[in-house]
Amino acid sequence: MILLLGGTSDIGVELTRRLCAGQHVVVCARRPENIGDFPGAASVSTLAFDATDLHTHRNVIDEAERLAGEKTTTAILAFGVLGDQHRAETDETHAAHIATVDYTAQISMLTVLADHMDHGHIVAFSSIAGWRPRRANYVYGSTKAGLDAFCQGLADRLHGTGLGLYLARPGFVIGSMTEGMTPAIMSVRPHDVAEAVADRIRANQPGTFWIPKKLALLAAVMKLVPRPIWRHMPR
Ligand SMILES: NC(=O)c1ccc[n+]([C@@H]2O[C@H](COP(=O)([O-])OP(=O)(O)OC[C@H]3O[C@@H](n4cnc5c(N)ncnc54)[C@H](OP(=O)(O)O)[C@@H]3O)[C@@H](O)[C@H]2O)c1
Repeated sequence: MILLLGGTSDIGVELTRRLCAGQHVVVCARRPENIGDFPGAASVSTLAFDATDLHTHRNVIDEAERLAGEKTTTAILAFGVLGDQHRAETDETHAAHIATVDYTAQISMLTVLADHMDHGHIVAFSSIAGWRPRRANYVYGSTKAGLDAFCQGLADRLHGTGLGLYLARPGFVIGSMTEGMTPAIMSVRPHDVAEAVADRIRANQPGTFWIPKKLALLAAVMKLVPRPIWRHMPR
């Protein structure tokens, strides 16, 4: 069964569509009435899911498996918010909300999944924003830095177990999350991210990977930029 958490995510939907042929799919979303089509899936079920309700995470998986009639073999953690950096600088509730969705809820769900699943694939999304957080988006960036660090350890823990962690590090993705923003260098689209992750899953090659691949070069350079210059980097 494919479990999509964050059922209206541009990237999550594109990825699930690439993997769903002949599979039972359970789509977990805040607005389950709004989910798209998954052509070729053996069945599609929906479940109401708010990632900030941490106490429900175990139940969500149990309920999803009851609906699908089988265990989870691929879990995709596609929920996330970019948030409003400007607002988060003075509104601690907003800053904490971003941290809850993009860090706390992710590590909670990853912990449950790693405990519950015995084989298959878990997909999580880091970001270039977490590689070296910038003044212009340090709230979101810090959550991705924390999530990325957590996933490095979890991937090592799962190594050789038959359960693989796929940690995607996309750059700027032109989609709903970045609507209205000027695309950054090496921008990609949700289908590019989905294709890169699907390729790794088909090849059964868990690990950490940049999307696009050439972003690794930019990432290496980013670490070398002196702080007085880095401070002025745009989003
Ligand atoms: N877009 C980018 O530039 C980019 C770059 C690097 C990494 N990423 C990461 O890739 C992942 C997928 O991003 P995307 O571009 O597909 O984003 P997206 O299209 O904006 O989708 C985000 C999803 O998260 C859901 N969500 C938000 N808060 C939630 C909550 N409290 N409980 C449950 N679901 C919640 C949204 O549901 P609603 O429809 O209900 O709001 C939506 O389904 C995210 O982790 C993101 O940080 C994105």
